[in-house]
Amino acid sequence: RQTTQQVAYTVTAQRGKMAFYQGQKTNTLGYNGNYLGPVLQVNRGQTLKIKTQNHLTTTTSFHWHGLVLPGVDDGGPNQTVAAGQTKTVQFKIKQPAATLWFHPHAMGSTAKQVYQGLAGLIYVRDAASQKRHLPQTYGVNDFPVIIQDRQFTADHQLDYEQAYQADGTTGSTLLVNGTVNPYLNVTTKLVRLRLVNGSNARNYRLTLSNGQAMQQIATDGGLLPHPVAVKTVRLSPGERAEVVIDTARFKTGQSVTLQNGHQQVLALRTAKHLKTDGRLPATLTTLPKVSTANAQHQSLTFSGMGHMVAINHQTYQRNRINLTAQVKRPQVWTIRNTSGMMGGMIHPFHLHGVQFRILSINGATPPANQRGWKDTVALPPDGEVKIAFTFKDKGIYMYHCHNLEHEENGMMGQIKVS
Ligand code: C2O
Ligand code: CU
Ligand code: CU
Repeated sequence: RQTTQQVAYTVTAQRGKMAFYQGQKTNTLGYNGNYLGPVLQVNRGQTLKIKTQNHLTTTTSFHWHGLVLPGVDDGGPNQTVAAGQTKTVQFKIKQPAATLWFHPHAMGSTAKQVYQGLAGLIYVRDAASQKRHLPQTYGVNDFPVIIQDRQFTADHQLDYEQAYQADGTTGSTLLVNGTVNPYLNVTTKLVRLRLVNGSNARNYRLTLSNGQAMQQIATDGGLLPHPVAVKTVRLSPGERAEVVIDTARFKTGQSVTLQNGHQQVLALRTAKHLKTDGRLPATLTTLPKVSTANAQHQSLTFSGMGHMVAINHQTYQRNRINLTAQVKRPQVWTIRNTSGMMGGMIHPFHLHGVQFRILSINGATPPANQRGWKDTVALPPDGEVKIAFTFKDKGIYMYHCHNLEHEENGMMGQIKVS
């Protein structure tokens, strides 16, 4: 049931102060608040109109990560909003229900601004997914879980320059939705978590402390055909996964934690009596067959580490178009990671403006929980990933490593679609 054809939001990038630790105020950045930002909710078919305002003292941009849209509205590094300025964008939502996010993307300040707190969510909803009766009551049985790691200084500040690492800034403290030591009071038998890796550079391997499997229902760009039971959810920076957890299987009064290795991410505390609310249907959606007929092939090589990173031996230059493609023509991309030194590094490959499907990882069919719509995929060290997709719109789009320090070091390119 759509009530209006347009939904309008104002998103303001601003400075804030957060009490991450009692009695201590940390200087932060946030959208419409002190840290992180709102969840913009929109239905498929509606027009999303966003008035973006930069109340910072430095340039920023507003990038809509995962949205299928014309290049000109994408908010990449060439579409910045200067300090004190305002810019309104609008686009029609033409993709299935998904958990997307938004964050700054100005060259030279992306990593720092994200680290200090700039990121928000976009929930695309559609009638088909609503009908499945999945857990979908926000804050009751459907929760955003933005996972970030931060290095707090002794006086509890987020000092980006001090924390900086050329191969990705990481920190020893894990936050969920900007909370240190977070827990969730669970009141229903099924709980849906929309997991977002909003970290600059850390890769997560998420498990439940009781060894129970989670049912993965969605990837970056929408629902999977069927729930996939997974004991471990791997998320590289920028990736999302939605899982449904059967909390009725927890022992009464037991607190189960979502953890990364042995580090606690989120504690799930169950109530004595759990309500039945929401279902886990066997069928979630139907995905279109991947079309590769008459495809245009491109190959990309991600190489190097630290300040030496490159894609096809080039680093990002504002005025350079690295690749070209035809709109509406299938694309097949072979993406290699040759950064194999010292055990190697994952480069999370991300492409703007489209959702893609993974054809293979190191020559093999991807696991069932990676066969849905994706906009970010972990390139394994010394590995190769093949993807397929079609640009729906024209424009210039970025592709890059979503390790934000690698991106800032130039591991980014531009493709012109016409
Ligand atoms: Cu989430 Cu180009 O970024
Ligand atoms: Cu993006
Ligand atoms: Cu990288």
